[in-house]
Order: sequence, then structure tokens, then C-alpha cells
Amino acid sequence: MNCIIINMKVSEMIEPKKFLEFLKDRRTIRCFKDEMISDKEIQMILEAGQWAPSSSNRQAWEFIVVKNKKMIKELSNTAIYGKFVREAPILIAIIGFVHDNPNWYIQDTSVASMNMMLMAWALGIGTCWIGSMDRTEAKEILGVHQDNFLLTILPFGYLRKEKPSPPGRKSLDDITKVIE
Ligand SMILES: Cc1cc2nc3c(=O)[nH]c(=O)nc-3n(C[C@H](O)[C@H](O)[C@H](O)COP(=O)(O)O)c2cc1C
Repeated sequence: MNCIIINMKVSEMIEPKKFLEFLKDRRTIRCFKDEMISDKEIQMILEAGQWAPSSSNRQAWEFIVVKNKKMIKELSNTAIYGKFVREAPILIAIIGFVHDNPNWYIQDTSVASMNMMLMAWALGIGTCWIGSMDRTEAKEILGVHQDNFLLTILPFGYLRKEKPSPPGRKSLDDITKVIE
């Protein structure tokens, strides 16, 4: 095992309690301002995806940034519970290469999507994980080969309304089992 004993915390970059508060503070956002987010912010969101862990560090993914308003509207029509996607100034489609990564393309791309969502939140940018959509149609619009996996299209934009209040969570007792 490649482990050296060192006398420091793994990461001293973020105060843990603040980080937990940050995770709890993130909300799904469905109302976006009609204002482009900056290239620097887009770059940081993409880098957050780039640095996500992946199986064997395969990174068998592609992130497609869509700024074209016509295409954003077309893609919003493929989202069954996501017509609000058309309000966003940009979308990022997350693609997994199924042939290069047949066992883990869902997990790898999912992890990358979460990194991007959290980075966006840190920048004051909202997003929503779009699950229900016509992926065949969306891939057609994006020019993505049908063999590849379209995980989601994440809309990104500044918040047009107040952040929604948090939907409840099941209690930890209900979702946790401890084996001593
Ligand atoms: C796999 C997945 C699929 C989702 N699909 C949709 C969707 O199609 N449309 C939508 O409006 N929200 C979608 N959501 C967002 C959830 O509704 C939201 O995360 C959940 O209600 C909890 O709210 P929160 O993110 O603010 O904590 C999805 C979230 C996940 C993780």
C-alpha cells in the first residue's frame, strides 16, 4: 500500500462544520435569471467535474457546454419535469463513454455531476439535476452517438427567486445502521 504516515489532517482547506453547512445549504434551483454566467465560473464548474474521482481514474466522460439559446430550448423540451431548463443561460450535458467504461459509466458521471453542482453553489449559481427526459431525443440534438450515455443536462444560472426552503430529509436513525 502506498501510504506514508504524516502528521497532518488530510485536508485543511475547509473547516468541516462549515463544509457540512454548505452541503445542507445547497438547494435544487428551478428559476434562473436571464443573465450569462462568466467564463471563469463555467471553467470552475468544469474543473470541478474534471477532478471528480472515477473508476481507475478512467475519466471516460465528456462535458458539453450549451450556450446556444435555440438548442437550450430544444433540450428543455426533452425534459419531462424540466421545462424551466429553458430559462438557464447555459446547460452542461454530461456524457459517459459506455464502450470505454462499461461497468462504471453511471457512477463516474454521477460523481462528476455532483462535483459540478457543489462548485456552482459555492459560486452562487443554481442548478437542477434533470432525471426524467427523452435521452434519445436529447442525444440527437446534442450530436452525441446513441451508444454513449447521457447522464443528465444540468442547467446553470443565477437565482431569479429566493432560495427554496429545504425539503425535509429522513432522520439519520431511519437511514443508518451501525454494525459494531
Ligand atoms: C437522480 C435525480 C433526478 C432528478 N430529476 C429531476 C427532474 O427531472 N426534474 C426536477 O425538477 N428535479 C429533479 N431532481 C431534483 C430533486 O427533485 C431534488 O434534488 C430533491 O427534491 C431534493 O431537493 P434539494 O436538491 O433542494 O435538496 C432530481 C434529482 C436527482 C438526484
